Amino acid sequence: MPHALVIGASRGLGFEFARQYAADGWRVIGTYRADADGERLRSAGVDALALDVLAEDAPKRLEAALGARLDLAIVNAGIHGPRQVRIAHPPSAADFDAVMHTNVLAPMRLLAVLAGPLEAAKGTLALVTSRMGSVSAANTPNSLLYRVSKAAENMLAKAAHVELSPGGVRVLALHPGWVRTDMGGPNAEVDREESIRGLRRVLADARSYPGGGFFDYRGETVAW
Ligand SMILES: NC(=O)c1ccc[n+]([C@@H]2O[C@H](COP(=O)([O-])OP(=O)(O)OC[C@H]3O[C@@H](n4cnc5c(N)ncnc54)[C@H](OP(=O)(O)O)[C@@H]3O)[C@@H](O)[C@H]2O)c1
Repeated sequence: MPHALVIGASRGLGFEFARQYAADGWRVIGTYRADADGERLRSAGVDALALDVLAEDAPKRLEAALGARLDLAIVNAGIHGPRQVRIAHPPSAADFDAVMHTNVLAPMRLLAVLAGPLEAAKGTLALVTSRMGSVSAANTPNSLLYRVSKAAENMLAKAAHVELSPGGVRVLALHPGWVRTDMGGPNAEVDREESIRGLRRVLADARSYPGGGFFDYRGETVAW
């Protein structure tokens, strides 16, 4: 039975990833923070793990919950922060820290404990970043803090590829589309089930996508 981890599985895209993999017979560990979300994950057949990615002991807690082998790790937890941030409206230090710590620092620290089990299984590491982090596609001023954080996360994905691919780990950065979730809002273009089915098709065929690449839910390359 293949073994997957979804970090940030309480709701939105992460819950849908966990739900779909569990329904297909995978053993899935999904992380959550609120007790009610842990219950919902268990009801969906997911091994629920309480984990705040910002906690100092998060890497240790995660390491203790993982087995020796991991076929797939999806780093999905993220926050958007204030949408009005732009050059004319710089972020507060607190907002900067919250967004950058959640979207960049936490993945950087957690990847360290995922590397061994992923290498043991020659598995796949997916970072759910965003086209909003594409430097070449940037064309609107708003959400600047989120964009900067996702650009940094894209670099983290590429750096993880450089470091982990010699050990046989496939690393991909993923853009889910603009999806109807709490973060994406009700006017977003894509249904979450469709987004996750698409991303799972990419992950199922991960070896045919260039490692260290950036792909959307339709399997199309996203420019960095
Ligand atoms: N929706 C879109 O259109 C879209 C587009 C591009 C990229 N993305 C990316 O896709 C990912 C998921 O987005 P979404 O739309 O599903 O967002 P969402 O509905 O707001 O869900 C965010 C998830 O991240 C978790 N999370 C946030 N901070 C955390 C922390 N400190 N510790 C542990 N978990 C934490 C949340 O857990 P709690 O429930 O405990 O808060 C929740 O599971 C994000 O990385 C986002 O940037 C989304």
